[in-house]
Amino acid sequence: MLDISEDGRTWVLSGPASSYAVHVTDRDELLHLHWGPRIGLADAEALAVRPLPDYWPFESPLDGREDYPVEGGPRFVRPALSLRTGERRGTEWAYQGHDTEAGELRLRFRDGDLAVTLHYRMRDDVIERRVTLENHGPAVEVLRADSATWTLPDRDSWRLSQLHGRWGAESRLERSLLTHGEKVIGSRRGHTSHQHLPWVALDTDATEERGEVYGCALGWSGSWRIAVAQLPDARVQITGGAGYDDSGLLTLGTGESYTTPVFAGLWSDGGFGGASRAWHAYQRTHVVPDADQDRPVLFNSWEATEFDISEEQQRALAERAAAMGVELFVVDDGWFGTRTSDRAGLGDWTPNPDRFPGGLGPLADHVHGLGMQFGIWVEPEMVNPDSDLYRAHPDWVQYQPGRKRTEFRNQLVLNLAREDVQEYLWEQLDGLLSSAPIDYVKWDFNRCFSDAGWPEDPYPQRLWVDHVRALYALLDRLRAAHPGVAFESCSGGGGRIDLGVLSRTDQVWTSDNTDPLDRLAIQHGFSQIHPARVMAAWVTDSPNAMLNHRASSLRFRFVSAMAGVLGVGGDLTKWTEGELAEARDWVELYKEIRPVVQRGDLYRLRAPEGGLSSVQYVLGDETVVLAWLQAQRYGEPVPALRLRGLDPSATYECLKTGEVHRGAVLLHHGLRVGLRGDLDATIVRLKRK
Ligand code: GLA
Repeated sequence: MLDISEDGRTWVLSGPASSYAVHVTDRDELLHLHWGPRIGLADAEALAVRPLPDYWPFESPLDGREDYPVEGGPRFVRPALSLRTGERRGTEWAYQGHDTEAGELRLRFRDGDLAVTLHYRMRDDVIERRVTLENHGPAVEVLRADSATWTLPDRDSWRLSQLHGRWGAESRLERSLLTHGEKVIGSRRGHTSHQHLPWVALDTDATEERGEVYGCALGWSGSWRIAVAQLPDARVQITGGAGYDDSGLLTLGTGESYTTPVFAGLWSDGGFGGASRAWHAYQRTHVVPDADQDRPVLFNSWEATEFDISEEQQRALAERAAAMGVELFVVDDGWFGTRTSDRAGLGDWTPNPDRFPGGLGPLADHVHGLGMQFGIWVEPEMVNPDSDLYRAHPDWVQYQPGRKRTEFRNQLVLNLAREDVQEYLWEQLDGLLSSAPIDYVKWDFNRCFSDAGWPEDPYPQRLWVDHVRALYALLDRLRAAHPGVAFESCSGGGGRIDLGVLSRTDQVWTSDNTDPLDRLAIQHGFSQIHPARVMAAWVTDSPNAMLNHRASSLRFRFVSAMAGVLGVGGDLTKWTEGELAEARDWVELYKEIRPVVQRGDLYRLRAPEGGLSSVQYVLGDETVVLAWLQAQRYGEPVPALRLRGLDPSATYECLKTGEVHRGAVLLHHGLRVGLRGDLDATIVRLKRK
């Protein structure tokens, strides 16, 4: 809903629970008025006429009050927009008017030949913001163009939540008091990165289920930056967008335009849990394609075989997977070119004739014959120097002339800003998807940008933005041409997870760390922003071969992975008949609880900080509780789990035991789960009677 004042200079966007209000002064300053609980137009107008405090010359009356601070003028805060035209820097804009289209508010400004449009769209309680620059004059260097600046109200002290990590340890939640100055997170690696997810949350005294939480999340899969500034006068501003440095994003020639990615913001007074549920619902409804369709249980061959693959061995794995109830069989790395190790083959996207003499068709048919869908792994943005592609086109990679070409994992990054590279990838991937009945593509990205350069381009910074645009365009084109194919975003695990990639992929690979205990913390962080519907999790072998050699029961591994989109990734040829039979039962149970897990509301009952941790999903009359005990100490019984999201006046039946629980008792006194010893886990299903 959008309310506009009579003079057309104050706007209030409202969702079911929150409002966002801005005002353009008669000096054409764009002031931020409100972000928080719902208010009316009269409230916003009262805020608009509140006089600004007096300032000494060492402070600016605009700092912390503008909705999109540009460079120049009476401002000292970090600018969201920094431009250079010839010798002149900064922006002095004049307000041109507003318009609305499809629920989006657009505020139009102009500085000489440059048009700046700020977009606002409220979807449920998430505000999507972005900015368009349109140049009608001589070339403009866009040094920085953030998608949005978010302003929080004056409070005594703010706390910052963020998700940090590294390979094998992504999306771990960290909370700290915000002190004066700036906290900057981001990626200068060309992908979203394992190190930080593009999300922050701010609160003063929230708990898991109570209190105000402000959150912001960026929809961009390249380099990015979010700066959280605690200003001198208790205000906090968060500004963020594409690109890490201020040294230049791109140049806009005459007639050219640039639209930033979306920076989405959410206010919730339901605590961290309420905020997460609102983010999840937003992504399921507005971001993730076909999110109303549940994701299938998959098998992935990577941990079972690594590069040592053959058609016969994949058939054997597929037969065991099918018998277990798996619905999608994915051949990982090693099926193409001369890819028998990570030293060769990337770039040559045709089946290895020694390994798949008849191409992928016969295996795909076999997998389909077993009643499963068929998927493959690709890493299209990369090339091994030992490949036919690189031998033919050594200039198709990112490189700096006269410098060494740095390799990570023996690979270089293709320059996707080049049209010939884009066309090559389209032809290869379209050809591949047309060559065999392929239902699923795991799209990987296994090295960061380092010495990214493009000798033929006078202004190589554009490569960073254009790479992501080309990736998006390629995914969009492939999705349109092959509408039945689902895509997974992977980047050495969770290195490319953000709202941008999620708007064109069906799920993400959360982490290469498949240890079920480590995963609980990774999943806890992931769930702060993203829904279980996109969070892929596999059951692999014990002891865990990839990370830490920790041994755990099949039960613990399954219950850990069943909190997201279940997959199996162990070497099934080595599993005993007993293990295969137990796994079949777990897969069957997962299919029963899947709608609740993938589409339900998530309540984090206890965080995985040692001892007992638990999550609960609620969908309609059904509730599923997953609980894990890391280690029982001193023989103490585990505490009862106070459930959430239930009707206190209803009764709930345990589907396994038939025991009937009263809603009020479950909410206030809790559910007892009989966990014992180390690494124990359980699932309880309740249905409202
Ligand atoms: C990355 C992925 C893994 C696997 C390998 C294959 O590391 O995250 O799941 O696909 O690449 O090389």
